[in-house]
Amino acid sequence: CGIVGYIGYREAWPIVLKGLKRLEYRGYDSAGIAIINEGGQNIYKKVGKVAALEEFAESQDKTGTIAMGHTRWATHGVPSDRNSHPHTSNNNKLSIIHNGIIENYATLKEELISRGHEFKSDTDTEVLIHLIEEIQKIEQTDLLEAVRLALKEVTGAYAIVIMDRENPDQLIAARKGSPMVIGVGKGEYFIASDATPIIEYTKNVIYLNDHEIALVTKDDLLVKRLDNVVQSPLIQELELKLEMLEKGGFDHFMLKEIYEQPRSIRDCMRGRIYPEEGKVQLGGIKEFVEKLKNIDRIIIVACGTSWHAGLVGEYLIEEYARIPVEVEYASEFRYRNPIITEKDVVIAISQSGETADTMAAIEMAKERGATIFGICNVAGASIPRLSHAGVYTHAGPEIGVASTKAFTAQVTVLTLMAFYMAQQKGTITQSKLISLLTELDSIPDKIQIALESNDIIKEVAAKIKDSRNCLFLGRGSGFPVALEGALKLKEISYIHAEGYPAAEMKHGPIALIDEEMPVVFIATQNSSYEKVISNIQEVKARKGKVIAIVTKGDTEVKKMADYCIEIPDADEAFLPLLATIPLQLLSYHIAVMRGCNVDQPRNLAKSVTVE
Ligand code: G6P
Repeated sequence: CGIVGYIGYREAWPIVLKGLKRLEYRGYDSAGIAIINEGGQNIYKKVGKVAALEEFAESQDKTGTIAMGHTRWATHGVPSDRNSHPHTSNNNKLSIIHNGIIENYATLKEELISRGHEFKSDTDTEVLIHLIEEIQKIEQTDLLEAVRLALKEVTGAYAIVIMDRENPDQLIAARKGSPMVIGVGKGEYFIASDATPIIEYTKNVIYLNDHEIALVTKDDLLVKRLDNVVQSPLIQELELKLEMLEKGGFDHFMLKEIYEQPRSIRDCMRGRIYPEEGKVQLGGIKEFVEKLKNIDRIIIVACGTSWHAGLVGEYLIEEYARIPVEVEYASEFRYRNPIITEKDVVIAISQSGETADTMAAIEMAKERGATIFGICNVAGASIPRLSHAGVYTHAGPEIGVASTKAFTAQVTVLTLMAFYMAQQKGTITQSKLISLLTELDSIPDKIQIALESNDIIKEVAAKIKDSRNCLFLGRGSGFPVALEGALKLKEISYIHAEGYPAAEMKHGPIALIDEEMPVVFIATQNSSYEKVISNIQEVKARKGKVIAIVTKGDTEVKKMADYCIEIPDADEAFLPLLATIPLQLLSYHIAVMRGCNVDQPRNLAKSVTVE
């Protein structure tokens, strides 16, 4: 979900509303804003997009210089007006917006009901604000103290902002396990769940840490920990630029981000590869070089698309650095009792750096003595802060909910890591490294060429857009590419899609194949080319429709496939980077043709800060 708060001298409504629009990619079931002026507190909330809220509040009183807003991704309670945030206390004086989950809300709610509280929604959030009100009443304290005491009673994760209609010159914010940034202006402060709503007003920000509460007035900021110790917050400068958050002439953020990949991958490699010398430099993990020489294995933890990048990483690290790698879904890993030793390195991959399951997996591995490397796109996010070391992907902000440029940047970092480890361990010759790095240096140009197939891809999209199912098959590192291709399609077009290792098709999915079923093959010329060709024949023999991603100049596959999309030739190591591009475009065009909301597909959220 997204959070925005403002306190200062300007009209707060437009700032908060615009901020919510910038944050909408984090959740978009419903939205709401609370604003205070001399007349009291006005709260407007509406199920649906932020635009629905804007329309709903059009002729309402929206004046005031203190406000907070929320865009929701439902956890407890269906998306509806009444479950939208802000929520209010029993006496309606206090209001709250919240990201995360209060896990012990049911017991707290029961207790509060027995004390006469009446609830207006089904949310865990409302319970928290009632609890704060109750504590304030019993302990006769100020609001800050009541919030502090209440937070000591709750379990779960939260980023919250609280307003008090009777104290209209303060906002209270707190976090645990859910991100929160405070923008520092002159005579004004901004609060948000990430820096995107803040950047147009100030570059100076403070990242709140877990277990911290902030009392914010227009001229001052007090930060203390839940144990009451006052903190001196560190002001950092944002590197984000406003144009990074705009569509820049493209119809959708997703398309812009797909087309940005030559640039984002170049940024990701900048200063890290020296092809002539055959050298990779990763400043973020260089302190751990000695460790890398002696590790027994690497465990990669991630969720969603980042997990697919991890699977590519497994191929690359095992191939070049000869270190055993296991790739785990963070959500499964954290709840098993995994065997982790001090000799293990855990690589956590996360675009947002805030995914709850990935964070929990890191915490567990850390407790058991592992060294944690983060691969993350958002500077200063929780995961890089939790990690011992790491490498940023530098893809720039990704707004489209379906991950594109973040994925290829993650794969690029993993490629660099594999080469770096191989170089340190001596499992690669200098001449091989020189040739690989020289080629890697040209990958952004090859991606540019791959993007030029857009028109053909659009034609293919038109042919298969009405399918109900779709299969993606690949072998070797083409398998994670197939998984990612299938995920993209299902995420944004709602066509059921599955990714499979091509050879496994005959153990199940082959039963689904008929003339209605498009099967997308990663059929580039590499070590598994001949085998993939056999699999294509198996599909054709059952009248399936074959779409093949092939190496430029291919003639064999062209004889069999219904449609071929070419990508430039490259070493097998770089196949995932190139083969992913046409699959992103294919999903994109299919989704547009089906009238789907490409940037904000239903039910999904960009950053999943709940488990
Ligand atoms: C959500 C997003 C995906 C993303 C996944 C993991 O499901 O919609 O695009 O891959 O979370 O997010 P992370 O930020 O940890 O990479």
